[in-house]
Amino acid sequence: VRLPRPLCVRTSVRTYFVCGSLLIIIAYLIYSSSVAAGAQSGIEECKYQFAWDRWNCPERTLQLSSHGGLRSANRETAFVHAISSAGVMYTLTRNCSLGDFDNCGCDDSRNGQLGGQGWLWGGCSDNVGFGEAISKQFVDGLETGQDARAAMNLHNNEAGRKAVKSTMKRTCKCHGVSGSCTTQTCWLQLPEFREVGYYLKEKYHKALKVDLLQGVGNSAASRGAIAETFSSISKKELVHLEDSPDYCLENKTLGLLGTEGRECLKRGKTLSKWEKRSCKRLCGDCGLAVEERRADMVSSCNCKFHWCCAVKCEQCRKSVTKYFCVKKEKRDGLCFL
Ligand SMILES: *[C@@H]1O[C@H](CO)[C@@H](O)[C@H](O)[C@H]1NC(C)=O
Ligand SMILES: *[C@@H]1O[C@H](CO)[C@@H](O)[C@H](O)[C@H]1NC(C)=O
Repeated sequence: VRLPRPLCVRTSVRTYFVCGSLLIIIAYLIYSSSVAAGAQSGIEECKYQFAWDRWNCPERTLQLSSHGGLRSANRETAFVHAISSAGVMYTLTRNCSLGDFDNCGCDDSRNGQLGGQGWLWGGCSDNVGFGEAISKQFVDGLETGQDARAAMNLHNNEAGRKAVKSTMKRTCKCHGVSGSCTTQTCWLQLPEFREVGYYLKEKYHKALKVDLLQGVGNSAASRGAIAETFSSISKKELVHLEDSPDYCLENKTLGLLGTEGRECLKRGKTLSKWEKRSCKRLCGDCGLAVEERRADMVSSCNCKFHWCCAVKCEQCRKSVTKYFCVKKEKRDGLCFL
């Protein structure tokens, strides 16, 4: 059996530590589909959170380890690591709660203990400890280097796992005579993954820059300096080493497309402030013009239920207006009709 790289590393989960051992193969077979599904949900969340940003989580920049490929170490890289690692932990935890694995179930380790004023731990808490341990094993295992970039990635992976823990919700049930709620039992539940996404987007805006790239070699002393620097930063915060490139512009070397041609949003009652400003952010501030394009959309409408059992719809046409970023000089040309 040829094992994938992530499994051939030391880890803090004692049982799975030797590359090539039977346990690793078993662990791999049991968890790999969940790990893959989790990483995918992280990427989907990244695309959702950044849909109206200049950088919109393009597939090409999503390399998850620091060896080979694109070795960027900016704020966006930090987010990608955090949300992927959170996605993996989230999915494993949810799988566990749904009974998908034989070796894990509810976290009832605190049941019976006093949690706070008037409530006890009880019920079935989502087992984040399990999700955390397995995801750490798989995701952190991708980092084999010992340089500042690897340390940055590990820090952000951890921040992602902390985000899942921090957004968990306490759910309670009342007890007492006819629901008088004199005592309650409570347990912790995972939130919707979207909430983890919003939480990490906030952390992204506040990400801390660490100045470590200059003058740090691979000596033991500099490895010590790297470790010391990262350990002084809260594990909940995202960190980066480099400034981001100009995402307005195309840069083939970095695999970036620039914002020309991107759609933006203008009107609409349901838009958030951030979305409403997307044309300014993606087009105007990048030296591009906004172009209005009308298109006819055909969709199902006036659907009626017929006895029994069919739904019949009409096809309705409606005109929709969309907005796109275009080069300024081309605005009056014929090429954009
Ligand atoms: C865990 O959940 C994910 C997503 O819901 C699913 O794709 C995957 O198959 C599950 N894993 C197992 C082992 O059931
Ligand atoms: C692409 O990005 C690299 C690294 O930031 C920079 O050195 C280069 O000048 C950029 N290229 C273009 C065409 O902007």
